[in-house]
Amino acid sequence: MAIKEWKTFLTPYDQAVEELKCKFKGIRKEYRRKNEYSPIEFVTGRVKEVASILEKAKKLDIPMDSIQDMEDITGIRIMCQFVDDIKKVAEIIKKRDDMEVLYEKNYVTNVKPSGYRSYHMIIRYTVNMAEGPQQILAEVQIRTLSMNFWATIEHSLNYKYKHNIPENIKFKLKSAADAAFQLDEQMLEIKDEIKDAQKLFEVKSDMVSKIMSNILILSSLGRIVESTNFQSSLNRLIEEGEVSELSNLMEMSFEAVEKYSNK
Ligand code: GTP
Ligand code: MG
Repeated sequence: MAIKEWKTFLTPYDQAVEELKCKFKGIRKEYRRKNEYSPIEFVTGRVKEVASILEKAKKLDIPMDSIQDMEDITGIRIMCQFVDDIKKVAEIIKKRDDMEVLYEKNYVTNVKPSGYRSYHMIIRYTVNMAEGPQQILAEVQIRTLSMNFWATIEHSLNYKYKHNIPENIKFKLKSAADAAFQLDEQMLEIKDEIKDAQKLFEVKSDMVSKIMSNILILSSLGRIVESTNFQSSLNRLIEEGEVSELSNLMEMSFEAVEKYSNK
């Protein structure tokens, strides 16, 4: 295929990456807007490089007119904080009616010999192009942050050593994979604690930003003394304040804004 033909061929895949990223990021936003914990931490996506498509086609004897059967030209990665979020994300995907799960590979419980862990789903997805709907395949990899860390490092070492990683490094990678597994297990044990802390942080930063915007409103209303007072109370509470104190200050700032706006 000439470069121009590759560009045309890859257009729907490119579109699919953008749409899928947007949809999964949207799920995260939806949880966050409700002030709820999101099983999705962040999302990345890529279209497979032409060179990698050709290399894989050659390796697997895929003829050029069947390239569209390659499952991972569209690749999406969903990162989670905790191992049990992976299941939740998989369930969310299965319930959707805009993507059809063809099959799944569970490398979270069936760890690969390399030490690789991740949950893979191959989906069928319809992109609506200018010339009409087109179905494409996509590989969705769902993994924890620590699984991602390990896989990224291992991938670059494979690249460096052209898939012939020296035994001593392979050994170290295996033990790093065990450590990553332990980390996931330990984090899961204190998940509720971590979630509480994160929630508290969110609640606090939400109140701080509301107070700050009220301070700005007060100063724009010419209430310099009031706004300076609120600012110094806020500075003190940011350092050492309880949630209840911040909440009181926030209420007071709303009352002040209301009082002076009506004058
Ligand atoms: P591919 O030819 O790579 O597609 O293999 P496959 O069709 O047997 O699928 P598999 O589910 O094993 O792997 C698909 C993808 O998962 C790869 O393209 C990688 O992104 C990732 N992956 C699988 N195994 C490993 C591994 O040992 N290390 C790393 N870093 N990534 C892996
Ligand atoms: Mg594959």
